[in-house]
Amino acid sequence: MPVEILVSQAAPFDAALMASIHAACFAKAWDEAAMATFIAGPGTLCLVGYAGDFGPVPAGILIARRAADEAELLTLAVAPACRRLGLARALLIEAAEQLRTGDVKRLFLEVEEGNAAALALYRSLGAMPVGRRPAYYESGADAAIFSLALSDSPPDDGAGRR
Ligand SMILES: CC(C)(COP(=O)(O)OP(=O)(O)OC[C@H]1O[C@@H](n2cnc3c(N)ncnc32)[C@H](O)[C@@H]1OP(=O)(O)O)[C@@H](O)C(=O)NCCC(=O)NCCS
Repeated sequence: MPVEILVSQAAPFDAALMASIHAACFAKAWDEAAMATFIAGPGTLCLVGYAGDFGPVPAGILIARRAADEAELLTLAVAPACRRLGLARALLIEAAEQLRTGDVKRLFLEVEEGNAAALALYRSLGAMPVGRRPAYYESGADAAIFSLALSDSPPDDGAGRR
């Protein structure tokens, strides 16, 4: 049976849990104060996701920053125990919907080359590769940049930005 997934706007009291999910997913963790700043930021979209069986605490987070009619995904993370339930997809779909409603035309997604899970997720949502940052990560890996078109206008190859 599919797990019930719920996505909502992050509230100030979510900052500590958001930091702990981030720490479980990335070597360079963002602390509670950083999360509180994102939640309070006017140009920032912060979402938390819940997966039915894992109780009333967030299991996934998404943070995106808007600038004019574009936005970039700053982070997307799902607690290891709650992966492959559709939580990241639900977070991204909700973010895309909210940004689209706010007249944002495209969302840029950056991912470490070799991150098979994120690459598959971004592609499955129709994001297109638009660029690369060589040796961007400390590991020496390249960053792949994807663009997800949010408007109904003709497909956008992201060339206007990078
Ligand atoms: C990437 C990440 C956010 C995916 O979260 P998730 O909730 O497990 O993803 P979903 O369950 O929504 O998966 C959606 C789709 O993504 C792809 N996917 C997810 N995990 C995958 C994996 N381990 N291998 C291959 N494809 C994967 C699949 O296409 C999947 O659809 P399917 O389950 O119907 O096949 C999670 O693995 C994570 O937090 N990783 C560490 C942090 C990170 O890399 N963040 C992204 C870059 S900022």
